[in-house]
Amino acid sequence: MVDHGRRPVSRKAPWWSLFVFCVLAATASAVPPRNHAIVSAHPLASEAGRLVIEAGGNAFDAAVAVSAALAVVEPYGSGLGGGGFWLLHRAADRFEVMIDGRERAPAAATADMYLDANGQVVDRASIDGPLAAGIPGVPAALAHIAENYGRLPLAMSLQPAIILARDGFPVDAEYRRMAEWRIDALRASPAAAQQLLVDGEVPPLGHRLRQPTLAATLQALAGGGAAAFYAGDVAQRLVDAVRAAGGIWSLDDLRDYRVVERAPVELRLPGNRRLLSASLPSSGGVLLAEMLMMLDQRPSVELDAADRVHLLVEVMRRAYADRARFLGDSDHVHVPLAQLLNRGRAQRRVQQIDMHRATPSTRAALDVGEGQDTTHFSILDREGNRVAATLSINYPFGSGFVAGNTGVLLNDEMDDFSAKPGVANVYGLVGNDANAIAPGKRMLSSMSPTFYEVGDVVTILGTPGGSRIISMVLQGILAADGGEPVSTIVARGRFHHQYLPDRIDIEPDALDAAVVEELQRRGHAIRQLDRPYGNMQVVRWDLASGAVDAAADPRGIGQAILFDGARRQVIGAAARRQAP
Ligand code: DON
Repeated sequence: MVDHGRRPVSRKAPWWSLFVFCVLAATASAVPPRNHAIVSAHPLASEAGRLVIEAGGNAFDAAVAVSAALAVVEPYGSGLGGGGFWLLHRAADRFEVMIDGRERAPAAATADMYLDANGQVVDRASIDGPLAAGIPGVPAALAHIAENYGRLPLAMSLQPAIILARDGFPVDAEYRRMAEWRIDALRASPAAAQQLLVDGEVPPLGHRLRQPTLAATLQALAGGGAAAFYAGDVAQRLVDAVRAAGGIWSLDDLRDYRVVERAPVELRLPGNRRLLSASLPSSGGVLLAEMLMMLDQRPSVELDAADRVHLLVEVMRRAYADRARFLGDSDHVHVPLAQLLNRGRAQRRVQQIDMHRATPSTRAALDVGEGQDTTHFSILDREGNRVAATLSINYPFGSGFVAGNTGVLLNDEMDDFSAKPGVANVYGLVGNDANAIAPGKRMLSSMSPTFYEVGDVVTILGTPGGSRIISMVLQGILAADGGEPVSTIVARGRFHHQYLPDRIDIEPDALDAAVVEELQRRGHAIRQLDRPYGNMQVVRWDLASGAVDAAADPRGIGQAILFDGARRQVIGAAARRQAP
C-alpha cells in the first residue's frame, strides 16, 4: 500500500546504518537524548505511546500507537476515517521522509460536485455527511510506518487503542464541547449517534464511552494489515454505508488508495538553522520556507512590538496569497515550486513591504470558521528517532458520519479543496484551479509537522488549527530562534493573517492595546478573537547535552511524558499563556 514513485525507497534501516550512525554521532558529537519524550493532545494517547516504547518499540511504533489511540479518545480530531502527515527522522542513517497519508478524492468526484444548477456552492455539502469524505489514509499509513520503520508488529502497536475502544475511556470536557458543536451532524448519522452520543445527547462528563465496532475494525487492521481495511469485508461495509447515505465511494477507490513517501521541504538558513517540514499536498512547508526566507531578509528580532507584528503579518499575507494562487496536489497540477522557493523572489517581495502601511489584499473579506479539531503529536526516542505528525478528519468529528457497523467516523476533508475559485472554505481559505476537485487528487492541506534545528538544538513541533496552522508554526519557530523554553513556545499568544480575508486575527490578550491601535493606524483590519486557538505539542532535544524537554499547549488537555524505563515525568498542559 505504498507508492514509492516520488521518493527513494526507504525500508528498514540497512545493516550498515549502525556503522554510519556511530561515525555521524562521533563527528557530530551528539549526546543521545536522556529520555524518551511523547507529547500529544490527549493523556491516554501519550500513555499508549509510552507503553509501546517500554515494550521495546521505537518512536515510529509509538507514532502508530499514538495515532491509533487518538482515533479512539479524540474522535473529533482524527481517526481511521481520516488522513495525515507523519514526518520521520531515523537516527541510524539520518533518513528523513514525510509519510503522506492524506485523503484522496474518490474517482466519481468532479470539480463542480458541490455546486448547484446556478453554479453556487451548496451550503455544507462538503462538510456534513459522506459526500464530504475523501478516501481515508490513516489505516494505510499506520500499516506502512509499522512495516517499514517500526520494530514491533502492527498488532502490538495497535493494542492500546483496541483496549481503549473496547473497554472505553471517560468522556472529558473537550469531547463534550466538540460534540455539542457537531451535535446536528452526529444525530443525522444513526451509527454516529449510537457510537458517540448517549440517547442522542452529548455524553455526560466521565461517562465511559465504549466503541466496540471501532475496536473490531482496529482488530481487523491489526490482524490483516492495510488490506483488511481497504479490501474485503470492512471495505464492502464502508462502501455500502457511504453509498446508502448518498456518498460516491467505490470499492476501487479503497483498493487503489496509496500512501506516498515524499521528500519533505528543507530550508537551510544562516546561523546553522534548518527547517524540515511538510511538502505538498500540504502547503505548510512551502509557506514556512517562503516566510522564513522573507524574514531572513528583514529580521524581526530588533523591532518594537507593532513593527514586528506588522512585518510578520505582511509576510504571512504574501505567503498565503501564493497558497491561494498556486498550490495544489503536485501529482495532478503543475506547481511552480522552484520559483516559490527562490531566495531572490523572497528578497524582492519583502522589499515591497511598506512598514508604515498595510498592503491591502485585493479581494473581499470572508468569514473564517472556528474549528478546534485535528491533532498533532511529537515524539523523540532515546536513539534520536523523531516523529512530528499532524492528523485530521477536518471539521470537529469530520463529516459526522459513521459508516454503518465499521465504527469508522468519516472525514470531511473534501472541503479542503476549492469548491469554486475564489469561494472560501470553512477556514476562509480561497483557492484556484490548482486546488480544484479531481478524481484521485489529494486536497491541499495546511498541516505542518515540523523539525526545526538551531545549531545543536532540535525542536519537533506542530499544531491543529486549519489555515492558522502555518502561522502558528512560524511563530513557534521564531520563538525557538529566540531560545524560548518549550513551555513558552506552546503558551505564547498568537496572531494570524492569511491574505484573505484581509484582516489580522488576534487571540484574546495576545497583543497590547497600544500595539493593536498602531496596527489599525497603519491600515490593518483587526479581528479580536473571543477564544484562543491551536493546540501545539513540542519536544526539544539539545544534542550538546542530551537534555530533553516537552510541553503540551495549555489551551488543550494534552500531556507530555518524559521517561526512560525507571523514571517518568508527566507534564500536563497547565502552563499559563504568555504574551508574544
Ligand atoms: O488539512 C488541513 O489543512 C485541515 N483539514 C486541517 C483542519 C484543522 O486543523 C482543524 N483544526 N482546527
